[in-house]
Amino acid sequence: MVNPLFIFLPLLSVAAGTDGPDPCVGRRIHIRSLPPRFNTDLLRHCGADAFPLADPSAAATSTPPCESLANHGLGPRTHPRSRSWYRTDARLLEAFFHRRILERDCLADDPADADAVFLPYYAALDALPYVLDPGLLDESARHGVALAEFLSRDQARILSRRHGHDHFLVVAGSAWDYAQSPSVEPRLWGSTSLLRLPELANFTFLTLESRTWPWQEHAIPHPTSFHPSSLGHLRAWLARARRSRRATLMLFAGGASRPSRPNIRGSILSECANRTDACVVVDCSGGKCAHDPVRYMRPMLRSKFCLQPPGDTPTRRSTFDAILAGCVPVFFEDLAARRQYGWHLPPVRYDEFSVHIPKEAVVFGGVRIVEALEAVPEEEVRRMRRRVLEMAPRVVYRRHGSTPELREAVKDAVDLAVDGVLQRIRRRTRALEDGLPERIYAQEEDSVDI
Ligand SMILES: *[C@@H]1O[C@H](CO)[C@@H](O)[C@H](O)[C@H]1NC(C)=O
Ligand SMILES: *[C@@H]1O[C@H](CO)[C@@H](O)[C@H](O)[C@H]1NC(C)=O
Repeated sequence: MVNPLFIFLPLLSVAAGTDGPDPCVGRRIHIRSLPPRFNTDLLRHCGADAFPLADPSAAATSTPPCESLANHGLGPRTHPRSRSWYRTDARLLEAFFHRRILERDCLADDPADADAVFLPYYAALDALPYVLDPGLLDESARHGVALAEFLSRDQARILSRRHGHDHFLVVAGSAWDYAQSPSVEPRLWGSTSLLRLPELANFTFLTLESRTWPWQEHAIPHPTSFHPSSLGHLRAWLARARRSRRATLMLFAGGASRPSRPNIRGSILSECANRTDACVVVDCSGGKCAHDPVRYMRPMLRSKFCLQPPGDTPTRRSTFDAILAGCVPVFFEDLAARRQYGWHLPPVRYDEFSVHIPKEAVVFGGVRIVEALEAVPEEEVRRMRRRVLEMAPRVVYRRHGSTPELREAVKDAVDLAVDGVLQRIRRRTRALEDGLPERIYAQEEDSVDI
């Protein structure tokens, strides 16, 4: 059942040049070879009939559609002539990231030469049986146990050399969903204990959302649907977003049904119902937007501000869609982005490219979002839009196999994630070498200078 489009490049290694400084110093990554049951076999977990569903009514949204496997996990193109737009399902990011690591320079065949070890384990796909198959719901503490057993058995030296501190992997989901205490009985539905396995405790997990004290994980951007393969395609899009006429003051894309208790989403929906002249709501309920970027990208291009309230969890993909559209994001709490994506969006720059309105002020303090945003001078809106479009390339996942020109011109979401993880691993291995293990778990200052 493995999609035939899903064929990996042979492993490329770059020999150190004989002249000039070695560009790979401190940047060598060994890709751990894993049995297919930890990655390619898991691509079977697609399509509505992959599992005997606990809740058949959720069938449409519970597993990624099999067509999402196309293009190494970017999904099918939005239409046949589209060059850069895909129907991307975030849960295939693990497979796509794997593909991008494979095409990277500075790979090390010998783990002894490597600064970091990448585990091409498709963790979120492997979690699906535990959260979807009624027969396995009680087993969810076992998610990842087979991997831990394999790593301790097969060439155990790779793992033990630095106690796992140099290992990293991608988990295409929120860290909260993988952090259930293994001893909870009965098991809570919808989450596993991957991050709580002692054997994996020292790994760095790249997740789409981190917890409040993320000492094991670091957040990387949710993938959007835009994956350019050349500098020309990237620039053409940014120019379009820059020039776009924006008649709408603010936009909200998300669940459009009013919540029963007062919260920020409810406040937004009632303001928008009152002020249809200033606010557009794109109804994304029931997964309507998940694989259909046209639905929200066009309205975002026509809006000045895009509202990013927390939903079930604090972060949302829509934040990254908005950045790409040059629609200035409006955040209602720091957990929505500022305390998450430091490698990609420097925390000290948020005032330049986003607006912050505390959610309590809106829900309980009588602050009207429309009025707050109407009060921002037009010149200031334009300045923020320029800044947000400067940030956009940093959160884009460019297509695999893109042109050397694009690769040299911009660091994309994968490049910055790899830079961040290498730096974090370097700090940890230095702490180990210096015999100061307490430094390993110190909260990092992850704001990058750009
Ligand atoms: C994790 O790191 C700590 C500190 O280096 C070490 O004592 C511990 O044994 C490591 N855990 C595993 C499972 O390797
Ligand atoms: C909506 O309009 C009504 C009537 O003008 C007003 O009483 C109410 O406070 C408004 N609600 C919001 C959220 O703006």
